[in-house]
Amino acid sequence: MAVKRISNNNTSTPKIRFFIFILLTTILFIVVYLESFLSELNTSRSFHFKSNEILRAPKTHHDAAAKLPGLGIFHSNNSTQRFHGRVLEFLGHGNCSLHFFMTWLTPSKSFGRRELWALESLFKAHSKACLVIASASLDSVRGYRILKPFLDRGLRILAAEPDLPFLVKNTSAEAWLEEMKSGAKDPGSVPLSQNLSNLMRLVMLYKYGGIYLDTDVVVLRDFTGLRNTVGAQSVDTVSKEWTRLNGAVMVFDVDHPLLADFLEEFALTFDGSRWGHNGPYLISRVVERVMRGGGSRTSSASSYNFTVLPPKAFYPVIWHKIERIMKKPANETEKRWVERTVSKLNDVGTYVLHLWRRQTMDSVIEEGSVVARLVSDHCLICHNISFAS
Ligand SMILES: *[C@@H]1O[C@H](CO)[C@@H](O)[C@H](O)[C@H]1NC(C)=O
Ligand SMILES: *[C@@H]1O[C@H](CO)[C@@H](O)[C@H](O)[C@H]1NC(C)=O
Ligand SMILES: *[C@@H]1O[C@H](CO)[C@@H](O)[C@H](O)[C@H]1NC(C)=O
Ligand SMILES: *[C@@H]1O[C@H](CO)[C@@H](O)[C@H](O)[C@H]1NC(C)=O
Ligand SMILES: *[C@@H]1O[C@H](CO)[C@@H](O)[C@H](O)[C@H]1NC(C)=O
Ligand SMILES: *[C@@H]1O[C@H](CO)[C@@H](O)[C@H](O)[C@H]1NC(C)=O
Ligand SMILES: *[C@@H]1O[C@H](CO)[C@@H](O)[C@H](O)[C@H]1NC(C)=O
Ligand SMILES: *[C@@H]1O[C@H](CO)[C@@H](O)[C@H](O)[C@H]1NC(C)=O
Repeated sequence: MAVKRISNNNTSTPKIRFFIFILLTTILFIVVYLESFLSELNTSRSFHFKSNEILRAPKTHHDAAAKLPGLGIFHSNNSTQRFHGRVLEFLGHGNCSLHFFMTWLTPSKSFGRRELWALESLFKAHSKACLVIASASLDSVRGYRILKPFLDRGLRILAAEPDLPFLVKNTSAEAWLEEMKSGAKDPGSVPLSQNLSNLMRLVMLYKYGGIYLDTDVVVLRDFTGLRNTVGAQSVDTVSKEWTRLNGAVMVFDVDHPLLADFLEEFALTFDGSRWGHNGPYLISRVVERVMRGGGSRTSSASSYNFTVLPPKAFYPVIWHKIERIMKKPANETEKRWVERTVSKLNDVGTYVLHLWRRQTMDSVIEEGSVVARLVSDHCLICHNISFAS
């Protein structure tokens, strides 16, 4: 009898097992999805001070170096050591109206159309500006060919291989770099170039002062008059207070105490496996702390003098709405909406349109869309302005 009952039960277990399998898979999927969704949206307003991180006895992962394809960038050599001299000479003799900085830490072949739009719109708005691009790949014959159309027009761009050990010298990030080099710190899993770009922009503004721009922007307006400024990418709909800042566009005087704090935070809390942690979330954490009046370990809050501009300034269209303005209008109603949006973005108070590369890398920008219109209006050379791809 017992045997029979067992065999009876067995006939129904495949269905139950299948059901449980589906249920577990669904739960797993929801958990994984929610986690990545939350880490993306989380306003990350809490701050965890890990003061012992740098002092902790190094656990040596000798394989760390192997995980670092861009390891070269951690070291100085005869060619990188010229960086500082080249930048000073370029900015010093350039009679520049403004000093702009960008980083390009990936191969020159990936410097494409959209990056050229950033350069074109930058120089359309500032023909007398000087632009330093910290980049080993563009500091080359191939890079020269990419930039030649600008250089031939007398526009001033210096692509120079950066010297990270020099740039971080005398900042909080100097010890961080030593740990990365020795393999004492885990570089994590996010592509190194993204994190280094976060660091590089901070140290360049700290050493030289000026305006940092990501390469996925369209510049819409002259930056003259902006000083010591970061932008909010989102605000609370009720309180109107910002909920998240971003570091894709920053304007700072040389040696500004807020930059010193950003660098300190970078060195203390670096986590190479969490997207945004060392970038936009870092900027938000530090500024929130300073605004709460705490100042920092090195500066009193009263010595800070900076402005947080509303989203309209640098992030007028948030990342989850950017796709919409890349689509061409389908009917008259949408055409009018495109017109209104274009004129709103051309309005005073909007300096750049950030295109959120991470979200739109594979999106097609359609002819007639808001983005296509702005790119065409703000191009300088305009040869390569074609949207089909
Ligand atoms: C200097 O180091 C960089 C990496 O940081 C490398 O790309 C470059 O080829 C080196 N140059 C020389 C002359 O060794
Ligand atoms: C690099 O610099 C060292 C001294 O710092 C010098 O001995 C060497 O010749 C230089 N190499 C090149 C290729 O310039
Ligand atoms: C520098 O630029 C300003 C205006 O952009 C111009 O008036 C001045 O003559 C320039 N000086 C030199 C030395 O080129
Ligand atoms: C670092 O600081 C020391 C002492 O203040 C100074 O002599 C040196 O020039 C600084 N180095 C850099 C690269 O700023
Ligand atoms: C750097 O940042 C990216 C995301 O921006 C992250 O995926 C990566 O793991 C980080 N770590 C390193 C070492 O690049
Ligand atoms: C703060 O900076 C602004 C320029 O952005 C300047 O006009 C003002 O005088 C500064 N205030 C202080 C107290 O330094
Ligand atoms: C215009 O097109 C959009 C999207 O295709 C649609 O939602 C909307 O109803 C259309 N409006 C009119 C007036 O046809
Ligand atoms: C830009 O257009 C020129 C021809 O006008 C072409 O040779 C060049 O490859 C284009 N560059 C890019 C990055 O598309």
